[in-house]
Amino acid sequence: MVAQDSDGAEGPRRRVQRLRVDIDQHRYRYYVLSDPSITDAEFDALYQQLARLEAEHPELDDPDSPTHRVGTAPSPAFAAVGHRQPMLSLDNAFDDSELLRWAERNNRILEGAPVRWTCELKVDGVAISVAYVRGRLDRAVTRGDGRVGEDVTANVRTIAGVPDYLEVDDPPALLEARGEIYYPVAEFEAMNDAREQEGLARFANPRNAASGALRQKDPAKTAQRPLRLVCHGMGAVQGLSVPTQSAFLEAIAAAGLPVAEQTCTLDDLDEVCRFIADWGERRHAPTYEMDGVVVKVDDLGQQRRLGATSAVPRWAIAYKYPPEERQTKLIDIFVNVGRTGKVTPFASFEPVLVAGSTLQLATLHNEDQARLKDVRPGDTVVVRKAGDVIPEVVGPVLSQRPDEVTSAGPWRMPKTCPFCGSAIERLEGEAASFCTNIDCPNRLLESLAHFAGRGAMDIEGLGYETARILRDQGLVSNIADVYRLSADDLLPLEGFGDKKVSQLLAGIEGSKTQPLERLLVALNIRMVGGTVARVLARHFGTLAAVRAADTDTIAAVNGVGPIRAAALRAFLDNPSSGALLDDLAALGVRTDTEAAQRSDLLDGWTVVLTGGLSGFTRDEAKQAIEDRGGKVVGSVSKKTGVVVVGVDPGSKAAKAVDLGVPTVDEDGFVALLDSGALPASGSPAQ
Ligand code: IVH
Repeated sequence: MVAQDSDGAEGPRRRVQRLRVDIDQHRYRYYVLSDPSITDAEFDALYQQLARLEAEHPELDDPDSPTHRVGTAPSPAFAAVGHRQPMLSLDNAFDDSELLRWAERNNRILEGAPVRWTCELKVDGVAISVAYVRGRLDRAVTRGDGRVGEDVTANVRTIAGVPDYLEVDDPPALLEARGEIYYPVAEFEAMNDAREQEGLARFANPRNAASGALRQKDPAKTAQRPLRLVCHGMGAVQGLSVPTQSAFLEAIAAAGLPVAEQTCTLDDLDEVCRFIADWGERRHAPTYEMDGVVVKVDDLGQQRRLGATSAVPRWAIAYKYPPEERQTKLIDIFVNVGRTGKVTPFASFEPVLVAGSTLQLATLHNEDQARLKDVRPGDTVVVRKAGDVIPEVVGPVLSQRPDEVTSAGPWRMPKTCPFCGSAIERLEGEAASFCTNIDCPNRLLESLAHFAGRGAMDIEGLGYETARILRDQGLVSNIADVYRLSADDLLPLEGFGDKKVSQLLAGIEGSKTQPLERLLVALNIRMVGGTVARVLARHFGTLAAVRAADTDTIAAVNGVGPIRAAALRAFLDNPSSGALLDDLAALGVRTDTEAAQRSDLLDGWTVVLTGGLSGFTRDEAKQAIEDRGGKVVGSVSKKTGVVVVGVDPGSKAAKAVDLGVPTVDEDGFVALLDSGALPASGSPAQ
């Protein structure tokens, strides 16, 4: 996941660089993909770390740091629109003392003039600007990077409660309101349950669902979602004069724009702290998800005096609530056996509603983590879900531990596997424990599902449930058995009609031609994922050559190293895996790689992809480049060899021109893949 600062040897410069890269990546996942991989609280912690390091080491500060920017570059899927005034983000306070320090600093700048504070709930939505020209909705634009956003007007017009016309007799020449688009919590839960029923992935939280729904290419799709708007701020205005933030909110509410009813303006900071504490107790009362309170200096003249940094105004701050915690009863600690045989303990507790969804299971990761937390069956435990989906057991409530739980002692990793009875062992110096039986039925199920999955052998029709049926019916007792299945085996199974069986068998047959790199991914070898599999396949070319290589030879392959080499060698030396590999080859599974024969064609090339290609998905284009020894990178620099410019390219195409980097269109890209050279007319791009 995220780089943790566990490496004491890492200097601040390197740490700052890593944090910047991580933060940019997380912002991209959050704003563009609507699919964050960490919680909001974890993101905030990374951001705070970076801000602290930059403050401690001013020599490392950089105007391009994420602390000086907001959001992320707009997606090329929508027209880019410059904001009339930048759309800033907010600084955070995590407790009362941070809030008071912020207020004191403002008081100092304002030389003790009395200040009134407007307190608003912090809606966890997608930031939007809605501009009305002479009373008519003209444009709705996402925040993007704060200066340039995406034009989503057609989609916003479909949202209930967003007026096409302001309800005023004499509309101002321009009124731009800023606000949030949100997915109401109740509808979100229902929609997520329905998705689960259909076998689709759940959205992490309402904000991601809102972001996904708002950024549909087809406005009809947005219209089907119950999105809502709430406005909280003023953008560019002409022909409207208001003295305060609260007066602005009143004016736009009177004009028919939705504003939050909970907002109030207070004279003293004790009341502000009480407002914050009060809403902290009732976080789930509003129809939208909220993660804090925004406190603003009400007077617009004072706001102007306070001003802003490049990313945040000084006149407003977001007080963020800590991740919500709840108590429940720990029923038991079970273990699961994964596809590599790794044994993972997990807690099962009485269902408890946390931050809008019901939790009852949480991983405890490994024996050390479980023992460190010292949670025991029968304990009352604290659980939380830090802003998204990953449930966590924080620890036991020791004051409520029953005597018999105390005397039972700490939980221990079982000595034998609950699925097959074989010994569970922990390797020296490692946190993970393993079931020692390579044929463990649970390991078989997990490894079969992985073997057939995307990125591995990609067998259509062989998902987790089918894998379970095949295992339970005794049709598959090791992976190679998949290639021994016949129609006679499958047709008698319940729910397996002619069509399903022939599709499954065709999928299995088709998978035999997957190249070596896919087979290496599919084999469930510890520490061998897609990237390592690719370098191994490229280096060795055939499975036989991989099997013949000793640990040092494997370790010397660029990107592998001694630890992965040892894990791979241990797999190859295990007699069951040896037999499995022999079986797969005998059953007709391909054991070499096409790429091996022409791996040097793009050796030393750095390629950037931008825009859509008609003959390749992004993954396929990347794979084709890597198969030939080239490297795909995300951003254009002087060192980039070529930029492949597809349909609707992003800003990278323009950057290539600026830097004089050659560009090719799709035909040129195909020629490059075939010949390893730029076509004569290639570059520079227009
Ligand atoms: S005012 C220039 N007020 O939270 C100040 N923002 O984490 C602009 N947000 O960028 C923000 N509720 O998108 C403001 N009542 C509220 C808000 C709010 C949610 C969002 C906004 C902001 C983000 C910062």
